[in-house]
Amino acid sequence: MTAEPLERTLDRHGHLGDPGGSPGPGAPVLRGARESDLPELRRLDEEVFQEVAYPAFLLRQLFDVYSEHFLVLDDGTGGLRGYVLAATTAFSRDSWILGLCVTEGHRRHGLGRELMTEILARLREDGIEQVRLTVEPANRAAILLYRSLGFRPEEPDGGLRRDYFGSGEHRRIMHLELR
Ligand SMILES: CC(C)(COP(=O)(O)OP(=O)(O)OC[C@H]1O[C@@H](n2cnc3c(N)ncnc32)[C@H](O)[C@@H]1OP(=O)(O)O)[C@@H](O)C(=O)NCCC(=O)NCCS
Repeated sequence: MTAEPLERTLDRHGHLGDPGGSPGPGAPVLRGARESDLPELRRLDEEVFQEVAYPAFLLRQLFDVYSEHFLVLDDGTGGLRGYVLAATTAFSRDSWILGLCVTEGHRRHGLGRELMTEILARLREDGIEQVRLTVEPANRAAILLYRSLGFRPEEPDGGLRRDYFGSGEHRRIMHLELR
């Protein structure tokens, strides 16, 4: 099943309005990523994730394969304030959140929560039963956000996987049942 196309404005508190609702001045729009977003997505990903940002070729191919579950926050002036990307396995129909970010100047306004809430709703509509993600063990903001959405550490060891991304690159795995 394919999720409905999405384009919704966020009100001044950062909450989603009705589909097709008229945007207030400066209100970001939550919508599906487009091919033309790729240069700005790359810039945003590098700005936030720096040395662990996706290389341009991988971001391109992630877009090619997973664009149905690739959402952006468009600021209306050609810039992006954030994105979320989920990838789903073909057979087990499990999803992984492969990217989530909000630009530093726009954090703590509910945008990260809106991105996550919308992607989880779309995954649920598409019949996905389980969502996983990795997070740096010290990334308190992200862990609190994920916990508040119902994600829990994937045992054993409280989800901690040492050297998950290479030597010293530990990560915590969290998961959420969508059924
Ligand atoms: C994680 C991130 C996406 C959150 O985006 P955001 O728009 O600031 O988050 P929200 O305003 O929607 O906050 C949602 C919840 O997250 C938690 N949270 C977010 N930032 C927090 C902070 N600095 N300290 C503590 N809790 C925080 C809170 O539980 C918050 O809920 P509350 O506002 O009801 O207290 C953002 O901090 C970010 O882009 N960080 C850098 C990239 C990153 O770490 N991505 C995740 C990789 S796994």
